[in-house]
Amino acid sequence: MNKNEKNSIRKYDSIAADYDNSFDGRFTAKFKNKMLELCDVADGDKVLDVGCGSGTLINAIRQKGGIEAYGVDISPKMIEECRARYKGITFDVSSGERLEFGDGEFSTVTICCVLHHLNKAQNFIIEAHRILKTGGVLIIGEPWFPWGLRHITDWIFTPLIRAGDNKIFSHKRLKQLVTDNGFEIAGMLLL
Ligand SMILES: C[S@@+](CC[C@H](N)C(=O)[O-])C[C@H]1O[C@@H](n2cnc3c(N)ncnc32)[C@H](O)[C@@H]1O
Repeated sequence: MNKNEKNSIRKYDSIAADYDNSFDGRFTAKFKNKMLELCDVADGDKVLDVGCGSGTLINAIRQKGGIEAYGVDISPKMIEECRARYKGITFDVSSGERLEFGDGEFSTVTICCVLHHLNKAQNFIIEAHRILKTGGVLIIGEPWFPWGLRHITDWIFTPLIRAGDNKIFSHKRLKQLVTDNGFEIAGMLLL
């Protein structure tokens, strides 16, 4: 387990019981709403939310149709909360950098405000590409800050708070990350 994963577990285990009312829970709400709007599902689809937090996004996606829903998160306490809240969704403790699913199993993979926590985000992108079927969709929600604020966050704030964050992506880096690893970009929105 890497340092980001250890710090994320400590931070998110500590706020799991009331995540939705935490700063992170509120901050991520607008991303989840937009991702839900963008997520098109059909009966029988398999959908996975990586870094699923309290499970609200995958539960909302499930309510759109007869899908098989899955959520994974590195924080055991978050997963405990998810299991207590939502029956009928399969939740597991797992890093997004090492997914224990077979090749081509999923129609859609979502990841909301998690990519910047990963030690090596490329590992997740490669894994997402592997577990998605041909024509499958990856929906990423990520915070974005302009250059100055991004560097202040990465160099000062992130090392100080030790909450498992790694680096905030620029648009260019994010686009490159996905296109270098087998995806085509269907669209990018700034909220
Ligand atoms: C900002 S929260 C977002 C949670 C949820 N996606 C949402 O939008 O409410 C970040 C989440 O990522 C999880 N996380 C951090 N690093 C992870 C990793 N390497 N693999 C899987 N989950 C991770 C944390 O435990 C936490 O639940």
